[in-house]
Amino acid sequence: MAAPVDLWASHFGLSATPFTKAVPAAKLFERDAHAEAVARIRYCINEAALAVIVGDTGAGKTVALRAAVAGLDRTRYSVIYLANPSGGCRGIYVAIATALGATPRFHKAEAINQAAALLAAEEHERHRRVVLVIDEAHLLTPEQLEEIRLLSNAELDSASPFAGILIGQPTLAVRLRQGVFSALDQRISVRYSLVGMDLAESISYLRHHLAICGRSDPLIADDAAGRLHRYANGLPRALNNAATAALMAAAADGKPLVDDVCAKKAIAELTRT
Ligand SMILES: Nc1ncnc2c1ncn2[C@@H]1O[C@H](COP(=O)(O)OP(=O)(O)OP(=O)(O)O)[C@@H](O)[C@H]1O
Ligand SMILES: [Mg+2]
Repeated sequence: MAAPVDLWASHFGLSATPFTKAVPAAKLFERDAHAEAVARIRYCINEAALAVIVGDTGAGKTVALRAAVAGLDRTRYSVIYLANPSGGCRGIYVAIATALGATPRFHKAEAINQAAALLAAEEHERHRRVVLVIDEAHLLTPEQLEEIRLLSNAELDSASPFAGILIGQPTLAVRLRQGVFSALDQRISVRYSLVGMDLAESISYLRHHLAICGRSDPLIADDAAGRLHRYANGLPRALNNAATAALMAAAADGKPLVDDVCAKKAIAELTRT
């Protein structure tokens, strides 16, 4: 089924509504930082390492993760994705056991042994690598961080039985550096901080999103794009919202493209509401 087109988007002759969440992996904007984050996540997966990927909200962390795992052969990799760590320690074991086809044990001590055994069997017997991803990992409690260390440590210092990827806001990296978490911190061999885009990247990003919706010619004037970029601090999600508001303002005024007046109006509205 073709994606629906909002009225304001059809005003510009766009074939789909731009700046949505639903960008297929093959059509992502390949800025350097995104490519680097994807490369590090892939390295972490290949090496069965522990990785920490941080960045401000809306920087593109989850998108990079999606891109990194999109091409994985699911007969050789099991990706276990926890959208957030709100289920406590048990939530992590339950996710592992369930994803690997077992019934999670009820008692905590049994559950951790079960998870560790399942991870080891998957790696060594089925030769299938488990990729355990915990998103919003800045919300992990100290107990959960300790459990993750124990799981990654289950085979003494020999190879880790899985690839672990913690994704979160910059406070995650700060927390991990606190002394109490040093044992886990030392095991993290892949780190990346995904920053916002510079002006040139933001302009290309805006054009990219419009091009995948059918308009390759510049629809947003450079001064307007600069204003949207500064408002969004170069962060993709905030830029999506600002660009959408600016396109709506231009459509409401019957303008063929987004000029700086539209960008100003859009930002005034976004900061007011
Ligand atoms: N490389 C990219 N190409 C195209 N769009 C992107 C890209 N990176 C981010 N985006 C856009 O930005 C939005 C926000 O990205 P994402 O959800 O990955 O942010 P996040 O860093 O995970 O934020 P949060 O911390 O709030 O979870 C996406 O829904 C997508 O529309
Ligand atoms: Mg995210």
